[in-house]
Amino acid sequence: AVHEPERIIGADRILPVVVLGDATRAAPLADALTAGGLRSVEVTLRTDAAADVIRAMSRHPDLLVGAGTVLTPDQVDAAVEARARFVVSPGFGPAVVRRCRERGVPVFPGVSSATEIQMALDAGIETVKFFPAEQLGGVAMIKALAAPFRSVRFIPTGGVNAGNLADYLALPAVVAVGGTWMVAPDLLAAGDWDEVTRRTAAAVAAARP
Ligand code: 3PG
Repeated sequence: AVHEPERIIGADRILPVVVLGDATRAAPLADALTAGGLRSVEVTLRTDAAADVIRAMSRHPDLLVGAGTVLTPDQVDAAVEARARFVVSPGFGPAVVRRCRERGVPVFPGVSSATEIQMALDAGIETVKFFPAEQLGGVAMIKALAAPFRSVRFIPTGGVNAGNLADYLALPAVVAVGGTWMVAPDLLAAGDWDEVTRRTAAAVAAARP
């Protein structure tokens, strides 16, 4: 069955990937993303402020907040305690996937090969992050992988931007695309929330069939 995070991410078709080191910017960022039309966000555990950012963004009533760059079972626990509603990892880590199961939190593990897709399938997971998408061969690679793995759905991330997102979303196997282009570090550092909203709205519009 498709869980709530996949339903929302799959409906919006865009998953912003946030790297934010200052939790005081979390609330305006949540407002900027939702004003642009998105209802989900991945906050990466790449800064010391990440748990506070997840907690603060989770207060927004219309935003589903997940944790990204989750590499260890302890980070799964920290993410869940910060109220993350889903977990994303760059690769397939069996221990992370197992802890997500135990904590009852949906997980989108990363894959980059047929072998890793089979590991995800063995773990009962059919929706995966495809990372880093452009560097791995982009649209052509996903097409090739989708042929034998007919049930697998992909969230390509890494090198996706306003210029190529439509090519990815045209593939039936692609649920949504992820990326940082609408929440680029310079925009977050400058507090340029209007530009975050503008890029988000443009992405949402480009993702519409
Ligand atoms: C991720 O963690 O998913 C990537 O850092 C996002 O890649 P991008 O910056 O190329 O969008």
